[in-house]
Amino acid sequence: MKRVVVLTGAGISAESGLGTFRGSNGLWEGHDVQEVASPEGFARDPELVLNFYNERRAQANQAHPNPGHLALKELEEHYDVVIITQNVDDLHERAGSSQVLHLHGELKLARSVADEQCVIEWDQDIHLGDKAPDGQQLRPHIVWFGEAVPMIVEAAQVMATADIVIIVGTSLVVYPANTLMDFARQECPIYVVDPYRPQFSSENPVIFYEEIGSTGVPKLVQHLIDAKNQEI
Ligand code: OAD
Repeated sequence: MKRVVVLTGAGISAESGLGTFRGSNGLWEGHDVQEVASPEGFARDPELVLNFYNERRAQANQAHPNPGHLALKELEEHYDVVIITQNVDDLHERAGSSQVLHLHGELKLARSVADEQCVIEWDQDIHLGDKAPDGQQLRPHIVWFGEAVPMIVEAAQVMATADIVIIVGTSLVVYPANTLMDFARQECPIYVVDPYRPQFSSENPVIFYEEIGSTGVPKLVQHLIDAKNQEI
């Protein structure tokens, strides 16, 4: 079975009602991203940051997968599909996708402020005083600006195994996620679904679907299914 590696960003969840990061004046739900998504921001005002992610978790729990997420699940019937997502929601999993790698963490996990390996499942609000198993304050298991991205090595290895790459709903401005396409094999086509073309350069063949995820992804998935059926 051919392998499709999909890199997704906030845009694929936009039509599920979850805000993108760089949509409105660089603000994320009314906040400067550095204020709520950096270790410095957390040190300055931990309660603000915890509350911010408590709201994001509650919002994500209310949201539902949209036709973009669902089409990627359907693709699994025809291809070996691995999704690398920058999103911290679980809409790919709830759509039924079975291989999902979260590059920037997950809202449903929490970790110790002192030990990034000390991670637990946690699907409720996090408050000041909530403790990790090591006795330290809990914080969201989210990769903040300035922090290492431990999953990037595995993601790059996965990208190198792709026969086809799909990129959906990401501005490709955040490092190191925006370097992942460089690991794709030379002839591997890269399909991009986004209403605004993200800027990147690649030696690979790049095919754009300049539209929103809920229409663009099902269209592309149908194209790939048809292409496979023609090969048989
Ligand atoms: P951005 O907000 O930077 O980019 C969202 C992309 O989605 C843009 O290219 C939009 O054009 C596109 N878009 C908007 N609506 C769409 C729709 N309905 N369908 C398809 N695409 C649509 O979000 P990311 O690239 O995901 O990190 O941001 C990367 C990282 O920056 C995030 O993971 C987050 C943030 O800081 C952390 O929180 C650690």
